[in-house]
Amino acid sequence: MAFVTRQFVRAMSSSSAASAAAKKIMVKHVTVIGGGLMGAGIAQVAAATGHTVVLVDQTEDILAKSRKGIEESLRRVAKKKFAENPKAGDEFVDKTLSSISTSTDAASVVHSTDLVVEAIVENLKVKTELFTRLDKFAAEHTIFASNTSSLQITSIANATTRQDRFAGLHFFNPVPLMKLVEVIKTPMTSQKTFESLIDFSRSLGKHPVSCKDTPGFIVNRLLVPYLLEAVRLYERGDASKEDIDTAMKLGAGYPMGPFELLDYVGLDTTKFILDGWHEMDAKNPLFQPSSSLDKLVAENKFGKKTGEGYYKYK
Ligand SMILES: NC(=O)c1ccc[n+]([C@@H]2O[C@H](COP(=O)([O-])OP(=O)(O)OC[C@H]3O[C@@H](n4cnc5c(N)ncnc54)[C@H](O)[C@@H]3O)[C@@H](O)[C@H]2O)c1
Repeated sequence: MAFVTRQFVRAMSSSSAASAAAKKIMVKHVTVIGGGLMGAGIAQVAAATGHTVVLVDQTEDILAKSRKGIEESLRRVAKKKFAENPKAGDEFVDKTLSSISTSTDAASVVHSTDLVVEAIVENLKVKTELFTRLDKFAAEHTIFASNTSSLQITSIANATTRQDRFAGLHFFNPVPLMKLVEVIKTPMTSQKTFESLIDFSRSLGKHPVSCKDTPGFIVNRLLVPYLLEAVRLYERGDASKEDIDTAMKLGAGYPMGPFELLDYVGLDTTKFILDGWHEMDAKNPLFQPSSSLDKLVAENKFGKKTGEGYYKYK
C-alpha cells in the first residue's frame, strides 16, 4: 500500500460502484512484447484460441526465429490433436499462424489493441521505459499486463497513467503446456481489469489463480527457495546433481529434478529473481546468492536456451 497515494485510493473507492457496473473487456486483439521463450508461447496460445496477435521484438531476425519456433510447436500440437485428420491439423497450423503478425515497433501497433502482455527482459528500468512509452500510444481501454516473475507489478504500473488498467499476468514455461496463470492484482488494479484478465486467461484454456502483488507471487515464492536449497546441497558437496534430481523424482514424485528444472526455467531468470529478493532482504537465508549459479550465468550458460547449464545439452 506504500506506493499508492491516498487520493488514488479515495478516488478508486468512490468510483468502485461505477467500475463494478462497468462492462468487462472482451479481449480479442493482443499485443505480446518480447518474442523469447515466454512471449512466443503466449502469442501461440492466444492465436490458437481465436485471438488476433501482434508479436513485437527488437529485430526482424529474432521475430523470424520466434515465428519458426511457434510453427514447430504448433505442428507438434496438431500432430497430437488431429492425429486422425492431418489435413485439419495443417489447417489449424495455417489459421493460427495467419492470426499472428509481427513488428519491431511496439508504439505503432498498440493503438487499437485490447491487451498488451509484456514478456521482455527481467529488468525494471527496461520494462518501465517500455510501458511509459506505450501508455502514450495505446487506446484508452487497453489493459497492460506484465509477465514478470520477480519484479513488483506496482512499480511497473506506476510508470504509467493507467494503474487501474494494469496487472500481472504470470504464465508458466512452456506456455502451450502449462495450465496455470497467476493474475496479480495491485491495490490500484480495478475489478473490471482483474475480471477481464481472468476471463482472458480462461479463454486461452488456462486455469487462473489470483494473488496479491507479493514477491514471487504463489509459485515462485515456494519454488525458487527450493531450487536454491538443492544448489546449496550440491555446492557443499553433500550430494551430486544427478542424485539430487533422482531423489526428488523418485522420492518426492516430482516430474523433474531441481537441476533439470533450473536448466529448463533458465539460469539467468532464476538469478535475476534471487538477486532481486536478496536486494530487498539481504539477511534472509533463503535469498542468499549461489556461487555456481553466478558462475554459470557469467559464462552465458543459461540452461536449455543456450545449450549449457547445470547439465550440458547435445
Ligand atoms: N523463463 C521462464 O520460465 C519464465 C516464466 C514466467 C515468466 N517469465 C518472465 O517472462 C519475461 C521474459 O522471459 P523469457 O524467459 O521469455 O526471456 P527471453 O530472454 O527468452 O525473451 C525476452 C525477449 O524480449 C526481447 N526484448 C528485450 N527487450 C525488449 C524491448 N525493449 N522491446 C521488445 N522486445 C524486447 C528480447 O529480444 C527477447 O527476445 C521475464 O520478465 C521473465 O521473468 C519467465
